[in-house]
Amino acid sequence: MATVNTTALTPIAMPGVQTRLTDQEEQEVLRVLRNANSLAIGPTGGIENNALESDFTQFTGCADSVAVNSCTSALELSAILTGLAPGDEVIMPAHTYVASAVPFARHGVTIRWADIDAETRVVSAETISPLVSDRTKAVVVVHLYGLPADMDPIMALAAKHGFKVVEDCAQAPGALYKDRRVGSIGDFGSFSFQTHKNMQTLGEGGMLTVQNMEHGVQARRMRWMGNWTFDGKREKDWVPSGCNLVEPIPGQWPVNYCMGEPNAAVGRMMLGRLDAINAQRRHQATRFMNGLSDYPELHFQHVPESCQHAYHLMAARYDGQQYGRQRDDLMTLIREKYQLTCIVQYWPLNRAELFQKFGFSSADIPESNRFYDNMISFPWWSDMPDDLIDEMAARTRNALDDMRA
Ligand SMILES: Cc1ncc(COP(=O)(O)O)c(C=O)c1O
Repeated sequence: MATVNTTALTPIAMPGVQTRLTDQEEQEVLRVLRNANSLAIGPTGGIENNALESDFTQFTGCADSVAVNSCTSALELSAILTGLAPGDEVIMPAHTYVASAVPFARHGVTIRWADIDAETRVVSAETISPLVSDRTKAVVVVHLYGLPADMDPIMALAAKHGFKVVEDCAQAPGALYKDRRVGSIGDFGSFSFQTHKNMQTLGEGGMLTVQNMEHGVQARRMRWMGNWTFDGKREKDWVPSGCNLVEPIPGQWPVNYCMGEPNAAVGRMMLGRLDAINAQRRHQATRFMNGLSDYPELHFQHVPESCQHAYHLMAARYDGQQYGRQRDDLMTLIREKYQLTCIVQYWPLNRAELFQKFGFSSADIPESNRFYDNMISFPWWSDMPDDLIDEMAARTRNALDDMRA
């Protein structure tokens, strides 16, 4: 196996933008900036927002989609639409980004941390079911790293116990579970179009998907501070002046979670090529993992046949015990000698001060701990050329050889 010359390596690091705009997409931003009557939405939405929502509904196969300014906002809306109250319980993985949890924790509920499956690294009906009680109001299923969780058994549990299922699809837009798009299976789906995601809407953005049309209406009434169109015809449109302010959902104050019109226009174009973006990411993943197939100490996420992965990230568990090595030895070597800026993700949330302060430090999650304590996440983005993937695999092989020595 070729040895990499480590004297003058160009560092390879995770970029701040995962998918760059095409020239056409840049032109689309200019078109909206120059021609739009407004760059923001009104009570009936906006031309670009409405078009993106309708495309998203068609793309995912959900009942309705509501564009928002982040996935966190979509999760906040899911939590509100679920009707959470203090004393309720919400089950979710601890091995996820903080935004999966805070929108639910905010409602004074008890968070119960579910473990991840050892092979797929996402939650499953097996890891969720021991935590279900008669107080369980919702389960947040995170399709982490871009891999859909096994949804059918989770939906069967939900039907049996009567809780809502929220799919956190921030990392998995376009991913398939049994030929169904994520975000069209649970009661709610939430998507992120933030700069680090497979598709983006100029830095920030998100989408809520719902299966019940009434939830779509309620989410829109919430989204723009309760501004809503008047029912029926008014003799003079300025009497009374301004918009109609509604109570969006009984007992709820509204919020401002709106997406801008240029953002929605770009999102619409990127959605049109999301399948191609994800296909390229799968190609990169296959090439990288094939390049490391002689190194079983690196365990990649198992992809069940029923799933199509969106490969938002390229993460693996390093098992170096037989060589007397730890993940941190590999991290140090790979960053300092081989100039691959790998990172470690997702600190189990029960270990974070924020969640400990609110009393959520207790968790029986051995696989989440094992994975987090031994994981390594490689630099990753859309459109990585083959020679860069090969270079990254070669540097990783050399680092693993050093670790074996
Ligand atoms: C799993 C997960 N959920 C939610 C979010 C929040 O997304 P946003 O930044 O759009 O609010 C992220 C963002 O990284 C995420 O990875």
